[in-house]
Amino acid sequence: MSAGRVYLETFGCQMNELDSELVSGALVSLGYRFVPGPDEADVVLYNTCSVREHAEQKVWSRLGELALRKKDDPGLVVGVLGCMAERDGTDLIRRMPVVDVLCGPGELDKLPSLVDNALRTRRSLMADAPDARPADGIDRRSARQVALQGNASRRTATLAAAEDSLEQLDLSRSTSPLDTPGRRSAYVRITRGCNKFCTYCVVPFTRGAEVHRPPDHIIDECRRLADAGVVEITLLGQTVNHYRFEHGAAVTVGGVTQPQKGRAFTGGHARDPLAGANVTTFADLLRRIHEEVPHLGRLRFVTSYPRDFGDDVLEVIRDHPRICRYLHVPAQSGSDRLLKAMNRGYTVGEYVEFIDRARAVLDQPEIGRPLTLSGDFIVGFPGETEDDFASTVALLRRARYKNAFIFKYSPRPGTVAFDRLEDDVPEDVKRRRNNHLLAVQTEVSDEISKEYLGRTVGVFVEGPSRKQRKAERAGRPAPGATGTIPLTIAGRDADRSPAAEGALEAGAADAEAGTIQWASRTDGDLIVFFDAPSPDTGRDLTGRLLRVEVTGASNLALFGTLSRDPAPV
Ligand code: 5AD
Ligand code: SF4
Repeated sequence: MSAGRVYLETFGCQMNELDSELVSGALVSLGYRFVPGPDEADVVLYNTCSVREHAEQKVWSRLGELALRKKDDPGLVVGVLGCMAERDGTDLIRRMPVVDVLCGPGELDKLPSLVDNALRTRRSLMADAPDARPADGIDRRSARQVALQGNASRRTATLAAAEDSLEQLDLSRSTSPLDTPGRRSAYVRITRGCNKFCTYCVVPFTRGAEVHRPPDHIIDECRRLADAGVVEITLLGQTVNHYRFEHGAAVTVGGVTQPQKGRAFTGGHARDPLAGANVTTFADLLRRIHEEVPHLGRLRFVTSYPRDFGDDVLEVIRDHPRICRYLHVPAQSGSDRLLKAMNRGYTVGEYVEFIDRARAVLDQPEIGRPLTLSGDFIVGFPGETEDDFASTVALLRRARYKNAFIFKYSPRPGTVAFDRLEDDVPEDVKRRRNNHLLAVQTEVSDEISKEYLGRTVGVFVEGPSRKQRKAERAGRPAPGATGTIPLTIAGRDADRSPAAEGALEAGAADAEAGTIQWASRTDGDLIVFFDAPSPDTGRDLTGRLLRVEVTGASNLALFGTLSRDPAPV
């Protein structure tokens, strides 16, 4: 029996993108084939996000469409993976019986067997009753496969076993050849879960307790990726700077070093007194990757928590040239009262102290190494007054982010804010504050971009720009077998992306004949578009580290031309 054709669509964060990549690799190694659209697939999977309701709504509407299709195609297997599966659990099946497979983010190592079982059961049901339609009495539930952590995800004993097999999923990538030859950029997870319990957030419930991966596993994975041609690695975690691995306590289960449950060091910006032989801190991890994977071009990380960010980390970034000077440090609000209600654990004063300290160590535009910051804010959190909002605007201006992600508060069942605080800011007020904050950020981003005019910046080339790819798709048939897995990553929420990339690129000068527009990023994560010969001329710039002279700037991106200066980036 052939394994089947799979369509997988991913919503939400970078962590979900990585999860999708890893489960895809596992399915491909079992003989599944990936197809670019749901219509040609036997198995349709949605890896979903439930941080805001908006993301879940998209999946509900996709599932509605599949329910119609399944009436005529009862062999179809539909799966919901990720945080939405974990959060909604079996309620999701009750509301949407089209779903056969439910798999939480802490159980993804089990996905291949869940899909396999669901396919076999559905196919055998069809073989028994080839003409049957659901109305003819086929028990659809018998094909159903569910793997969720439930509340057990926060119980340490259960966690140890669950995480052990989950670690295998991350490890599977380093024991099999790279699924996507030619790729130049990759994510590597360093921490799973979150212990912060911000009152609005579902992540500690859906992804479970914070667990740090063993440093040797992380470094091996980085090395394997770099050996395979990856130039840029982004380390992922909900609070990456809390990374801390205690070696002494390591145990081995089934041949795999057991990841340790992290104990956050909460000594402000002092050095960790236990750092040393038995502990690998985040600073140690960055230094080791930089030193032990010398052929890696760029090392980045997201997301940082604004508390407990030691000077040791800042110094390691400063002293290691291939570590990017870019920090994504969500503030969430500029009002101490709201930060308390959000359980963020810092005041506005402490946040500002941190970014000033980071700038003092890392902002060196005079040697071509500025520090850039980006932030997240929630507007319309319960009880937010005009004064609270004014404080948020003031903090956004003070922090001078190169960009900020701004979200309207979305009450999420199961969180403390949902249970205890009334969602009392009207929708139109949330919208107005959202737009206002975006407008202020646009001004700041514009100012920051203009500072780059006339400078030469080092960039990592991501590939032809999206405008370019669209033009190519319109002009000629889509490329066939490129050897890559066609993962579909749905755009982040509209308010999450700085703006539609299309609008961004429309400002670019029309390319001359034989040249195309390339998209790239500075080590401070600024987007840079430039025109250069197309890959058809035999020069594919994708994955190269190059220098670009900046000749144009908007609030969304820089524009420039390739530098003739051969100095290394
Ligand atoms: N409502 C709105 N925004 C939220 N975020 C997390 N939970 C919520 C919620 N319930 C935002 C935070 C976080 C980002 C990933 O999503 O700003 O940093
Ligand atoms: Fe959610 Fe707060 Fe953890 Fe971020 S730090 S994932 S906002 S609980």
